[in-house]
Amino acid sequence: MLTGKKILLGITGSIAAYKIPLLVRLLKKDGADVRVVMTPSAKDFVTPLTLSTLSGNPVLSHGFDPETGKWESHVELGLWADLFVVAPASANTMAKMAYGMADNYLLTVCLSAKCPIMFAPAMDLDMYKHQATQQNIKTLIERGCIFVAPSSGELASGLCGEGRMEEPQKIYERIKDFFQTKRRFTGKKVLITAGPTYEAIDPVRFIGNHSSGLMGIEIARAFARQGAEVTLVLGPSNISPNMKDIRLMPVTSAKEMYDAVMTFFPKTDIAVMSAAVADFRPEMVADQKIKKNPDNDTMTLKLVKTEDILRSVGAMKNEKQTVVGFALETENGLTNAKKKLHTKNIDLIVLNEMNESGVGFKSKTNKISIITKDDKVIEFELKAKSEVALDVLNAIYQYINHE
Ligand code: CTP
Repeated sequence: MLTGKKILLGITGSIAAYKIPLLVRLLKKDGADVRVVMTPSAKDFVTPLTLSTLSGNPVLSHGFDPETGKWESHVELGLWADLFVVAPASANTMAKMAYGMADNYLLTVCLSAKCPIMFAPAMDLDMYKHQATQQNIKTLIERGCIFVAPSSGELASGLCGEGRMEEPQKIYERIKDFFQTKRRFTGKKVLITAGPTYEAIDPVRFIGNHSSGLMGIEIARAFARQGAEVTLVLGPSNISPNMKDIRLMPVTSAKEMYDAVMTFFPKTDIAVMSAAVADFRPEMVADQKIKKNPDNDTMTLKLVKTEDILRSVGAMKNEKQTVVGFALETENGLTNAKKKLHTKNIDLIVLNEMNESGVGFKSKTNKISIITKDDKVIEFELKAKSEVALDVLNAIYQYINHE
């Protein structure tokens, strides 16, 4: 599967570096051409000799090799690779990548690489949780780098938590996934809704929900990476997809989201409606801020139904269009999701059950089941939302191609 693929591995200073020889073996066994660059501190954790023996290529950590007197151009290496995988990616290297620093050979390659960059962080849980690290990861993802989320477990420090580099086998699978799925939605027009909607009560208040928009944004990013032409209709969210291949349509209310979807849907091949659309809006929006009435301890707001966007596209869709909905349930998940799938006339539904841990609007992870039109249920484990997005795309791809 990886025959002829040129993979550049970047190893940084983290104890998890001792696992990388295994990754090199997996890639080589699969036919990939592997070259390795290391930061100086990575050599404290794994030897260049092991890596050059396994990869069959000299390992580089300087542009200039004093023994051969040869100059290795970082630009050439960046152009050579089909994929650059930085694993383990230390907090320090990620920070430097985010800021475009180039004070070692690996970083110069990062800056000149024309190929996509995948990174698999490894560090202690407090370093991983730190706002600065999280911000750097966000910057890299927004720039289009592929994030292999660390898992939770025992760490070298003896602590237990998030920050453990994903296992070599899993990184290898992500690499295979990358090559397999690279351009498989090329030419497809994809419409995605994400985030909450805000329904105005008066000029300063609204009815909303806690949706962050992250799940839909990850789906949009995954489609864009796999070659689709993506339009993302995004309710108020403080996350931005920041990918030049995604056309972003920011909206606030359910009505605005509905109007945007109606504009784009006729030319859409695949619609994924992941937004947490408000089901009701105030019947009247006050022109001025509503004042407290000193004689009244209660206040009644009359609400009216918003447009059901998913139901509308389900009713409009033709045979060539695929429509995917989401179902957010707190009880009887499967029954309710199946009901939504059929009554809204859609092709697939992604079920989120809010009562499971690690699932929810504010979480970075999600656990889903996907139900197809013929009531087939596919269950998935708890994963980072970026990986859940890949599962959703796989299910859509298989559905469209009758696999
Ligand atoms: N949806 C929509 N427009 C609405 C409400 C929901 O497009 N006004 C879409 C959501 O984007 C999601 C699906 O419908 O894809 C299901 O949303 P959910 O909130 O789970 O269900 P509802 O249909 O609103 O039903 P209920 O609130 O009764 O569970």
